[in-house]
Amino acid sequence: MIRNGHGHVLRWWNEIGERGRARLLQQLSSIDFDELDSLSRRYREGKPPVSLEGIEPADVISLPKTKGEISALERIRRIGEEAFRAGEVAAFLVAGGQATRLGIETPKGTFKITPIKKKTIFEHHAEKIRAISKRYGKPFPFYVMTSETNGEPTREFFERHRHFGLNPADVFFFKQDMMPALDLEGRLVLDAKDHIFASPNGHGGSISSLEKSGALADMKARGIKYLSYFQVDNVLIKIGDPIFIGYHIAKGAEMSVKVAPKRDPEEKVGVVCRLGDITTVIEYSDLPKEHKYALNKDGSLRFSAGNLAIHVLSVSFVERLNAEKHSLPFHIAEKAIPFLDDRGELVKPKQKNGLKFERFVFDALSHAQASAIVEVNRDEEFAPIKNADGEDSPETARDLMIRLYAKWLEGAGMQIPHNAGGRVKGLLEISPLFALDADELKRKLSPSFEVRLPLYLGP
Ligand code: UD1
Repeated sequence: MIRNGHGHVLRWWNEIGERGRARLLQQLSSIDFDELDSLSRRYREGKPPVSLEGIEPADVISLPKTKGEISALERIRRIGEEAFRAGEVAAFLVAGGQATRLGIETPKGTFKITPIKKKTIFEHHAEKIRAISKRYGKPFPFYVMTSETNGEPTREFFERHRHFGLNPADVFFFKQDMMPALDLEGRLVLDAKDHIFASPNGHGGSISSLEKSGALADMKARGIKYLSYFQVDNVLIKIGDPIFIGYHIAKGAEMSVKVAPKRDPEEKVGVVCRLGDITTVIEYSDLPKEHKYALNKDGSLRFSAGNLAIHVLSVSFVERLNAEKHSLPFHIAEKAIPFLDDRGELVKPKQKNGLKFERFVFDALSHAQASAIVEVNRDEEFAPIKNADGEDSPETARDLMIRLYAKWLEGAGMQIPHNAGGRVKGLLEISPLFALDADELKRKLSPSFEVRLPLYLGP
């Protein structure tokens, strides 16, 4: 069962007792040593450069500018709304990651985020889902992918909060697979005497786990055709955006992606582009300087379609990928990995001492027969929380939420006080159950409504 070079994982065999041995054996039996060996070889031999021959910018559906484009959008919206009314759309959240950069021990979704009521990220997402279900008069099932590291606490959190008003029958939790890490010599790492260190196998693990867990079968039984895929950390996400779903359907797409122009050539986001007939995402680390800095005639970046990690996946596409046994490639990252020292005590190193392996969901894009690549306004849809402070932190996300709510209120004719730097002078929060978007807000507020900050608008 154990390959040469990994025998050290049995070092404490005589100390760990019957249960410890069973635990370790069970873990060992699930390890694909061939796969690990080939990944370790790939790391030692160095990454072959990604061939970018014939790379072209992706065919992006740009933001509508002319009157004609804006009215054409209404047709697209209606297509998406029809799918909702037919009960064909579900929300799909990937939340199996470990929130290491945010530095919290609990699942990222339990983080308190909204500016006034301090609702958690999970509650904020759940309110959007309830609002959409109400809007279209249909259940809007919610599939949540967790992992071994946060599955139980996530489920308990939802239960403790009565699923935030969602019907528990429409919330489906499942876990993705774990992937063992290796040290820099290509050996498994123990993080307990009876346990091999492993981490979630990346959001790309969702493709096989959707099937294995029975989630796909559940979707089929409910008549779900389209999944509105999002990451837990984006608090401005428009879950189930009918325009995005509409484009996906109108294009006969299997997988679609939202993009926004990169802020600058070095921004750390993948770029959606074309390699021959294939649409794909090239990670920022794989994009050579000559392409990163290439410009169009008007001075804009040639490869600027930044991947916002917001997708639509057709259920039939996920089925096809599984049926055809397309497994997405593993990406290798050097990371600091906890290990047992010679005395059997856990050490949490600061330096990178090992390799983690993750599949990325956007690698599925290159298998899709068609895709809609839709440009959106980043300020309205993208506020990721990655770090404890600084860029992409809770503070920047709250700020973006307040700015967006202010824009909606101004669109409804209200006056919002700003300071000299353009920041809103006070706190604002609009629950998705009050208004999901600017139009709904406008319909709900009478023109005589006066804004006094702090302002919370809720159900
Ligand atoms: C990701 C994208 C990046 C995109 C950015 C937008 C990758 C490699 N890069 O960056 O192109 O511009 O988001 O915010 O994804 N997750 C799982 N299981 C896992 C790993 C992650 O469910 O095994 C989930 C996390 O819970 C989270 C999401 O995937 O919801 C993103 O994970 P994260 O590691 O934060 O991605 P980034 O590197 O920030």
